[in-house]
Amino acid sequence: MDSLCVLIMAAGKGTRMKSAYPKVLQPILDRPIIDYVINNVLKAGVSQQNIAVLVGSGGEQVEAHISQTFPAVNILWQHEQLGTGHAVKSARQWWGRYKHLVVLNGDVPLLRPHSLDELMSCCEEFDCTVITFMADYPNEYGRIIRTHDSVSIVEYKDATEEQRKIKEVNAGCYAFRVKALDEVIGDITNNNVQHEYYLPDALGLMNARGMNTGAIPLPEEEMQGVNTQIELASVTRVMRRRIAERWMREGVRILDPESVYIGADVTLAPDAVIMPDVQLWGKSRIGEGSIVGTGSVLTNAVLGKGVKITAYAVIENSELKDGAKVGAFVYIRDGSCLENNAYAGKFVELKNSHIGEGSKVPHLSYIGDAELGHDVNIGAGSITCNYDGTHKNRTKIGNNCFVGSNTMFVAPVEIGDGSATAAGSVITQAVPENALGVGRSRQKNIADWSIHKHHKP
Ligand code: UD1
Ligand code: CA
Repeated sequence: MDSLCVLIMAAGKGTRMKSAYPKVLQPILDRPIIDYVINNVLKAGVSQQNIAVLVGSGGEQVEAHISQTFPAVNILWQHEQLGTGHAVKSARQWWGRYKHLVVLNGDVPLLRPHSLDELMSCCEEFDCTVITFMADYPNEYGRIIRTHDSVSIVEYKDATEEQRKIKEVNAGCYAFRVKALDEVIGDITNNNVQHEYYLPDALGLMNARGMNTGAIPLPEEEMQGVNTQIELASVTRVMRRRIAERWMREGVRILDPESVYIGADVTLAPDAVIMPDVQLWGKSRIGEGSIVGTGSVLTNAVLGKGVKITAYAVIENSELKDGAKVGAFVYIRDGSCLENNAYAGKFVELKNSHIGEGSKVPHLSYIGDAELGHDVNIGAGSITCNYDGTHKNRTKIGNNCFVGSNTMFVAPVEIGDGSATAAGSVITQAVPENALGVGRSRQKNIADWSIHKHHKP
């Protein structure tokens, strides 16, 4: 495959997006458009070294992103955007040493690897092959003009009324024999309504020299470009459905795929269950048989097997091991971990905390910067006071501890294995193993006291 290279055109401004960000960095779900395009090319078997992205408008941002995400992909610059023909010509140095060149618009994220395969397999047959589709509303796409043995393209703005009625349009994806393209690329002019150098003109020039041009029609859905926020939403909808369907084919149960968002880098195991209105982002991983309850938003969350999220959990950069249970209404974040069969219940926030095997934080707690051993029970309303105004301090709770309701742990503080705290305690000093820490004033009763008497003037 080393004789073939892929040039992705992404130098245009994307004016119609009306956004400060370059078009190809606009997100579909949680990754930029360009990532999908590059990933599809990689999946079609082309290696990063044989891919180049042509940048221009907003190019620094695009370059920074790509060099981080796809370090071996080449970045080429088109400093002035004079049209797609000019774009491809300005990368001549790079593609000149290959045998075949595939050119893709940077804004066609739905093009499937299989279709790219098909385009690449035409390389031997034609000097230029172009992908087309039948558009219900052909709008301003370039129109495909077919004769019995050739294909050419006329841009909408240059087309006659008759030509504008044609529904087969140019998708902006081409495969060229490099030798053939090299012969004609210098002859493309900007002698047209938009005064741009049109890459599609290459086909007409090839036909005039007796070269072969061909077209492969593909489904319209794959060829949807992104030029406006409305089109971005529509492409996102398709991508969302594709991702959900992919996981359902692998045995994941999604009750209402229309309401669920799954990012491109999420993985799910068979028999995972995704309830309605769930969002899964980043590198989240959902293990076998785990249930993600309604309204939950998970980002870089790793769930083992048989984990149960009741409903409305927000989990970020944290891990829930086999059999852990959480919810409803929990917020788990910043590198927290629930060991096997641990439990974080209703209205609980865990931050950078480790909850040992079988331990429970059932109700209304904030556990921050804390280490809990195994089989600990935290009474309702208990809190770690981890912040002294300057530093975050740690709380350490040993194994088999019983923490009375509404205990405040003023960190740094530590309680030993098997210890307990009395309800309502403010724990400021270490509690030794197997001891009861009582940190509260005693109740006293004042006799013969009535609220009415007390409040008389
Ligand atoms: C282009 C095609 C049109 C086709 C449509 C499909 C031309 C002249 N027309 O029109 O036939 O139906 O795509 O979507 O090619 N770009 C550069 N440098 C430039 C100009 C553009 O890199 O100087 C890039 C853009 O970033 C974009 C792609 O090329 O990714 C297409 O450019 P765009 O202006 O969107 O072309 P269309 O008008 O959509
Ligand atoms: Ca376009």
